[in-house]
Amino acid sequence: MFSDTAVEFPLSPCLPSLPQPAVYDTARSLYENLYSATPDAGIRARAGKFLDASLEAVRALPNDMPATPQACGAWMEAKSAHTAQRYAEYLAARQSGAPRQYFSSEAHALYFLNEIAPTKLVDGAWLAGLVTQWEDSRFHPLIRTYLEELGDGAPELNHVVLYRRLLDAHACGHRDGMADSRFVQGAIQLALGCNADKYLPEIIGFNLGYEQLPLHLPITAYELNELGIDPYYFTLHITIDNMATGHARRALDALQLTLPARHRAAFFERVRNGYMLNELGDGSESIIRDFDLEQEVIAIFKRKSVFGRHMHSDYCKLAGKSVNAWLADPGQIPAFLDQLQRGGWIRRNQDPAASRFWRLLAGERAEMFGVFTDYEIRVIHDWIAGEWKDPQLQVPSRALSYRARRRMEEADTGLPAPEDADNDFNEPLRRLCADLDEADSKRERMRMLLPYLGPASHHTPEGLLATRLFSQGLRGGAS
Ligand SMILES: [Fe+2]
Repeated sequence: MFSDTAVEFPLSPCLPSLPQPAVYDTARSLYENLYSATPDAGIRARAGKFLDASLEAVRALPNDMPATPQACGAWMEAKSAHTAQRYAEYLAARQSGAPRQYFSSEAHALYFLNEIAPTKLVDGAWLAGLVTQWEDSRFHPLIRTYLEELGDGAPELNHVVLYRRLLDAHACGHRDGMADSRFVQGAIQLALGCNADKYLPEIIGFNLGYEQLPLHLPITAYELNELGIDPYYFTLHITIDNMATGHARRALDALQLTLPARHRAAFFERVRNGYMLNELGDGSESIIRDFDLEQEVIAIFKRKSVFGRHMHSDYCKLAGKSVNAWLADPGQIPAFLDQLQRGGWIRRNQDPAASRFWRLLAGERAEMFGVFTDYEIRVIHDWIAGEWKDPQLQVPSRALSYRARRRMEEADTGLPAPEDADNDFNEPLRRLCADLDEADSKRERMRMLLPYLGPASHHTPEGLLATRLFSQGLRGGAS
């Protein structure tokens, strides 16, 4: 839910509620099974069923993709121009004083980063299964796109590493109680990646949709920066997905290169259906709209109550009831928060420092230091502060954007070169190097690298090394 301060600026039109096949009950478990290891035949079959149900669900929806491959170029250019036009309108509105469109507060932005994480942490996964085709140049545009998602093995450019760092920087990344619908997009992407041999047209269509620049990307980057949050993950995609030379252009090239000579119409119909898989599950804009500060505070307290109900002394009482008794039943949390306000422990719409409860969480000698994560503390802060605005942040020169702040700080990028170290922490890395030394042909070395390029491992030290070597090999160098 948007706060009252959000400007009335039209979001992209919402799709009607999609039919939710029963198979969606398994989106999270399928996601976790596909992400945790190289999927076995059983998991791949389960992923195939999930894809079939998803493809059936989108078949009835309106599809804006042209009816012929020849029309796709002009269609993508028109969409790109439309996005640019709408972003220009957004900027003009902001420059004439309109408030943020997406994020009502920093807590709202961090909520978004956390809830979209299941999708972002498998960035590129739908293309993972194509690396086996590295000797077939028709697939090089898609393989190149995948390797760029992986940063060609450079940690500071690997999209999953970047997103993990972003989550870590704000202590986000929890999944307790997260809705199953948050995992649908990631499950689709992982399922496509491990079934490339059976869903090639759908992968090409999905890629065509995913690699086009959506309006929410530049707006998200703009507003994250404004709130002092590193927007790099999002700005990176604005440049990389461009229609002139970027992933969107490659997506179109891949379609032209892989269209078969015979049964072309049937192949392309599957491409069109695969494109629609982008519409399933929770997207960025729906997640942004879902945010409700009060409900997020209640959810945080419910999570903490599992441990907190045993951690307070009996003399900690509120309205005649011990805090442990309040926390014993998660259903009581709204009443507990209400009592904290009635008892003067929390004073809403004021500087949080004026609340005794806040002083238990933050500041010197805070008795509950460490109980809440940085993200949770930010949510509680924004909930208590409500309409109150920090006067320090009302002075423009003191409200630094992320980019302004970074310019004032020393850059901190890159991991130490992992292959230089020799210890138990990188034993898998050394094992990979030893195996590669044994190989006597480029083809064998490339084959050895393949298992390390999957979504569950490409962001590890050995995965990054394997990506660098594979990338060199694809370009024709020694691998
Ligand atoms: Fe990406």
